[in-house]
Amino acid sequence: MGSPPRHIAIIMDGNGRWAERRGLPRIEGHRQGAESVRQVTRAARAIGVGRLTLYAFSEQNWGRPLAEVAALMQLLRDYLTDERAEIMDNNIRLTTLGNTERLPEYVKGPLDKLMTDSSENDGMELCLALSYGGREEITAAVQRIAERVASGDLDPSAINPSVLQDTIAVEDVDLIIRTSGEQRLSNFLLWQSAYAELYFADCLWPEFGKAELLEALSAFQRRARRFGLVA
Ligand code: IPE
Ligand code: IPE
Ligand code: MG
Repeated sequence: MGSPPRHIAIIMDGNGRWAERRGLPRIEGHRQGAESVRQVTRAARAIGVGRLTLYAFSEQNWGRPLAEVAALMQLLRDYLTDERAEIMDNNIRLTTLGNTERLPEYVKGPLDKLMTDSSENDGMELCLALSYGGREEITAAVQRIAERVASGDLDPSAINPSVLQDTIAVEDVDLIIRTSGEQRLSNFLLWQSAYAELYFADCLWPEFGKAELLEALSAFQRRARRFGLVA
């Protein structure tokens, strides 16, 4: 296989349906989904991916029933405890995207701690998109740019895509994978996906593991990326 994509991002969808098909509460699907996170992170690290961004919770997901949101937050806290050793032992740097100020303290505390403790690791960046929305991210960047204009630090005629790129400060994504058969972005990495390759897997997230990741990577290797140019 050729060199792996530098930045892979995954829309981990279908946990609820996985559970419902088994007559289980949706949260059991989320619990099983955490196991896929483990496997896929390990595989991505072994393959040599530079950055893996996982869409774990969208800004819009706050609108789900309170019990489901609470269960997801508890799973997140458990994940941060259970995966701590794996992350540190594998030289992984944990980062986040999104409005993490909205997370409850029992998540925010361990999250900030693991981010700080892993900040010197340089094996792979594992970025969790939490309380994340692409439109919200772009809007926040526009607000910061407007402040610079208002303070006289930036001329409006100097605003170009590079200014937005530098303000958002998240590198472009090479490959976006979405499970569960849905073929949409659902407010994920809207700016960064301009030239991303999209890969849709029919299986549900709890069914996605190392083999499925390798299949997505092999599909990616067969794509011809042109970035608007001629081949
Ligand atoms: C993805 O699975 C996990 C989150 C959005 C937190 P879903 O919960 O969206 O599962 P489906 O799409 O309802 O099956
Ligand atoms: C996207 O999945 C968000 C995450 C995977 C965290 P959703 O299930 O929330 O998206 P829609 O509602 O199907 O568009
Ligand atoms: Mg879904």
